[in-house]
Amino acid sequence: MDYEYLITKMEKYADQKGVPIMEKDGINFLTEFIKLNNVKKILEIGTAIGYSAINMALVDDGVTVTSIERDKDRYLQAIKNVKEFNLEDRITLLLCDALEVDIDDEFDLIFIDAAKSQYIKFFEKFSKNLAKKGFIVTDNIDFHGLTNSDKSVMSKNLRQLVTKLEKYINFLKDNEEFKTRFFKVGDGIAISVRKKSYNE
Ligand SMILES: C[S@@+](CC[C@H](N)C(=O)[O-])C[C@H]1O[C@@H](n2cnc3c(N)ncnc32)[C@H](O)[C@@H]1O
Repeated sequence: MDYEYLITKMEKYADQKGVPIMEKDGINFLTEFIKLNNVKKILEIGTAIGYSAINMALVDDGVTVTSIERDKDRYLQAIKNVKEFNLEDRITLLLCDALEVDIDDEFDLIFIDAAKSQYIKFFEKFSKNLAKKGFIVTDNIDFHGLTNSDKSVMSKNLRQLVTKLEKYINFLKDNEEFKTRFFKVGDGIAISVRKKSYNE
């Protein structure tokens, strides 16, 4: 199967329809991280059309992804894309609001890439699903360079969103349970791990 062709097709679709997907160097960084850390079981918050879920699943035949999306059209497009890659047995797509669903399973990596205003809630809700030595990865930490920049020129809505993202950054920096590293790649990526797992 010509994965490159299908990946490019998804990128073009996202571009034409204005669907936000991970930046190229961001997804390359994430898939490399998954490979290096032997991550197998992934929970993603924010599927969109399945671009990052598919890229993550392609790292290794042993990788499985459960991904949550609340927008029906995007979810349906993600189903089509997953089928095109023949990844139905390794990618499970859920159509629901991530804040309203209960997931019992435990994951090696939780990828937060949904509504930026809800990042603290996603982190708090799903950290119970993280394996002891697992990773929580968050995208859009820099938000196109807007976090920690001059807010006086921003519209009210944008200012509120950026303020929420900055609160999330501080939540990660001050977190007693998790230690976080911030990477200037893609739109800014944070990787959090339990402090305890470091010391063991
Ligand atoms: C940035 S896109 C995800 C991009 C995707 N991870 C990728 O790189 O291919 C964010 C998605 O999260 C979805 N979303 C936002 N809030 C959500 C929520 N509370 N529950 C489920 N999905 C949500 C949006 O509908 C949107 O499609």
